[in-house]
Amino acid sequence: MEAKLKTEIVGVVGSGLIGRSWAMLFAAAGYQVRIYDTDPSRMCHALEEIKLQLRDLDKRGLLRGELTADEQFSRISTAATLEECVKDSFYIQENVPEDAELKKKVHAELDKYIRSNSILASSTSAILPSIISEGLAHRNRFIVVHPTNPPFYAPMVELCSAPWTDPEVMEITRALMKEIGQQPVTINKETDGFVLNRLQYAILGEGWRLIRDNVISVEDFDIVMKHGLGRRYAFMGPFETAYLNSEGWKVYSERYADMIYRIQRSFGEPEKMVGPTLDKIQGECEKMVPMEKLQDRRQWRDRRLTALAKLINDMEEEDKQVEGQ
Ligand SMILES: NC(=O)c1ccc[n+]([C@@H]2O[C@H](COP(=O)([O-])OP(=O)(O)OC[C@H]3O[C@@H](n4cnc5c(N)ncnc54)[C@H](O)[C@@H]3O)[C@@H](O)[C@H]2O)c1
Repeated sequence: MEAKLKTEIVGVVGSGLIGRSWAMLFAAAGYQVRIYDTDPSRMCHALEEIKLQLRDLDKRGLLRGELTADEQFSRISTAATLEECVKDSFYIQENVPEDAELKKKVHAELDKYIRSNSILASSTSAILPSIISEGLAHRNRFIVVHPTNPPFYAPMVELCSAPWTDPEVMEITRALMKEIGQQPVTINKETDGFVLNRLQYAILGEGWRLIRDNVISVEDFDIVMKHGLGRRYAFMGPFETAYLNSEGWKVYSERYADMIYRIQRSFGEPEKMVGPTLDKIQGECEKMVPMEKLQDRRQWRDRRLTALAKLINDMEEEDKQVEGQ
């Protein structure tokens, strides 16, 4: 990742969990960042959190880029108005709550202040780009840039254009994401839930049915994921997994296509996640992690994510060295 000090400004709108992560990612790459939030106390809190997190990352040897923690922190400032946040920004990342009407309203305002060649990005998890941008004068500059949470440790970002987005917006955004150390993927056409959430919900949907039908407990289902599939998925996708498991996809298909088709046809209809199965899942989860221990468990999760990020960084360094030999 390039990390010399840059003169370009990035506007970050909304300073919650995702907004402040974006601020850190852009600052680590040397950009100047201006954050705006309608709630000034949230902005103060965001700055405090960013300072603490940068120190923590520094301590763990996980600081991104070449700038020190203090240098990165000094790249981030707050803006008193939305206009001040975005008027000189070449790229704006909106992170207000997931509400289509609110997003439309905020983007209509952003539309008044942005330059005609700036890029207007939304972190939305599941609102289609054409819904947010339809009425904008600069709708050709709009794109969805959906991060994975937490963006620092899970760098994949989904990029999805509206039908009227300039093709160069996708190209520039992809390059920008790579430059700041994220892993962009292109969603070629507007699809509800993009890809990450469709996959997540497919897994939860099948898990729901298997638990409902007493095929497996919640605890054992989670073990299948974390000690089974998840072990490979942390560094290799399912298509490459299958490709390696056989002599390529053609052989995989010859061997398994009938079986896979039979099993896929046995998947049940989707169900709303309410009722007795919900009580069962909640009850079993509470046995694994009592509700009053949720905060401790979140801290444990973050320590694990940090350790995993370190391991993956080391593995990628090793790959680069092997490639360079
Ligand atoms: N949290 C996640 O796991 C996650 C992951 C990926 C994407 N996202 C998406 O990112 C977006 C933000 O999520 P979050 O978890 O950071 O939300 P959040 O509730 O933590 O933060 C939202 C922030 O927006 C501010 N805000 C509200 N109205 C505003 C306005 N008109 N102008 C400026 N600021 C305003 C709020 O004061 C708040 O600080 C959502 O669209 C969400 O779906 C969230």
